[in-house]
Amino acid sequence: MPATILDGKALAEKIRAEVAEEVETFVQSGGMIPCLAAVLVGDDPGSQVYVRNKQRACEKAGIRSILHKLSAETTAAELLDLVDRLNRDPAVHGILVQLPLPKQIDEKRVLDAVTPLKDVDCFHPENVGLMVQNRPRFLPCTPHGVHELLLRHQVPIAGANVVVLGRSDIVGKPMAILLMQRGPGGDATVTVCHSRTKNLPEVTRRADVLIVAIGRAQFVTAAMVQPGATVIDVGINRTEAGLVGDVDFAAVKEVAGRISPVPGGVGPLTIAMLLRNTLTAARLQTEY
Ligand code: GUN
Repeated sequence: MPATILDGKALAEKIRAEVAEEVETFVQSGGMIPCLAAVLVGDDPGSQVYVRNKQRACEKAGIRSILHKLSAETTAAELLDLVDRLNRDPAVHGILVQLPLPKQIDEKRVLDAVTPLKDVDCFHPENVGLMVQNRPRFLPCTPHGVHELLLRHQVPIAGANVVVLGRSDIVGKPMAILLMQRGPGGDATVTVCHSRTKNLPEVTRRADVLIVAIGRAQFVTAAMVQPGATVIDVGINRTEAGLVGDVDFAAVKEVAGRISPVPGGVGPLTIAMLLRNTLTAARLQTEY
């Protein structure tokens, strides 16, 4: 029997509607209209699409969005100066610096410069530390979206063998942390594997839940998946055949119990969680 499709697009719409309602209540009770400032440096076509989608989603949820577009030749000093102005602007609640940045700019230096209370990506070391210690201020958007997809489909997590394939700061590492935390939504036995892992198919086949964020088109084959497992595909790869994930969807859906598609899986949830973080940021900066 083919796998149940985990429809991230439908869930994202639901979460966006929930956030829109909360934004309305917040504003009616005297809060400022939440505002996200997005910073786009250079002309990477993928980044342009992402930022446009994020802005559209903001507007639909009643969140203001401002785009700062800078040329590919922007210097680190110029970008740091903009971040500093946004940090100090009381009308801006969330700051998103779209990655990747041009190579002349040190990404870590820029991300560290975003004031932690406006860090809606949850990339700042202070916010990462709070998340690791299970007292989060924000949660990183993509892992949070995956977590919601699992929880709202009642995928068992406590005690489950979860394998995270990929160890990036943006997805793999925080994903593993969220699922291993003590308490509701956590308590999983988490294995993180990557390009240097020995006998990778043997490891991935042990997964009750396999989360793939390795950045290689259709890397996960049916032979790497335990029958009945839940497979979450975080990958977005542009190929000649169009957008594909890190999982060979056609083959793996015949083996898995549940699977998230690309597109229409994790991507829309990342945006929904960004809206939630922007509302959280506005709340954190509001003095009642
Ligand atoms: N580029 C790819 N993913 C992301 C993300 O989640 N946030 C930002 N700011 N840039 C990205």
